[in-house]
Amino acid sequence: MSYHALAIDGPAGAGKSTIAKLLANKLNYIYIDTGAMYRATTYKALSLEVDLEDPKEFDFLDTTEFIFKNGELYMDGVNMTSLNRSKVVADNVSLVASHIPVRNKLVALQQEIAKGNHVVMDGRDIGTVVLKNADLKVFLTATVSVRAKRRYEELKNIGRNITIEDIEEEIKKRDLYDSSREYNPLKKADDAIEIDTSDKDIYQVVDLLYKKYIKIINEGEL
Ligand code: DC
Repeated sequence: MSYHALAIDGPAGAGKSTIAKLLANKLNYIYIDTGAMYRATTYKALSLEVDLEDPKEFDFLDTTEFIFKNGELYMDGVNMTSLNRSKVVADNVSLVASHIPVRNKLVALQQEIAKGNHVVMDGRDIGTVVLKNADLKVFLTATVSVRAKRRYEELKNIGRNITIEDIEEEIKKRDLYDSSREYNPLKKADDAIEIDTSDKDIYQVVDLLYKKYIKIINEGEL
C-alpha cells in the first residue's frame, strides 16, 4: 500500500497548524507538527544545559523518543504542547533548527512516520526536503501584522504574557533566520501552490485545499 501526504510550509503564524489540523481531521490522516519537534529538541537542549551553538552537542537525539498522539507531540513520554510555547524555546529554536545534525535526525524521523501513515505534515522544509513526493504541497503566507495577531491570540489562550509588538519582533527575527539559513531554509517548493491567508477565512482555505487534494488523489487512482 502506498501512503498519501499533504505538505504545508510557510512562516510562523501563516495558519499552517490550524489548517493542517483541520485537513487531517477531514481526511482522517495523522497530523505531524514538525515545528514541535524542533521546539522540543530546543527544550531538551536547554534542560541538559548543552552549548546551543555547538551542533555536536545534540547526540542526545539518538536516544530521544518522539511520538505524536492526536496531533500532540510527546517527547520521552512527556506532552510537550505547553512546554514548547515558552519564550526561551521560541528565542532559541531557530538557532537549534539551523544545525545540520539536528535537521538530518529530525527529517529522517519525519520521513519514517510518513512511510507508514497517511499524513498532513507542516513545517518549513516539508515540500522541499522531507516529503518531496507529497501528493499536494502548499505554501501559506500572511502579512507580519496578521501573523503576529494570530500568534498573540494563541499565546494569550495558553496564558503567556506578551505584547503584540514583542511577537512581531520575535516573528521577524525567526523568519529572517529560518529563511536565510544555509541548510534547507524556509522556501516555497517550485511545485507548491501559494496561498496568502491574510484576508481569508481559515475554513474557506481548508475547503479549497480539501477539494483540490481529493481531486488529485482521485485522479491518481483512475
Ligand atoms: O512552526 P513553529 O513556529 O513551531 O516552528 C518552530 C521553529 O522550528 C521555526 O522557527 C523553524 C523551525 N522549523 C524548521 O526549521 N523546520 C521545520 N520543518 C519546522 C520548524
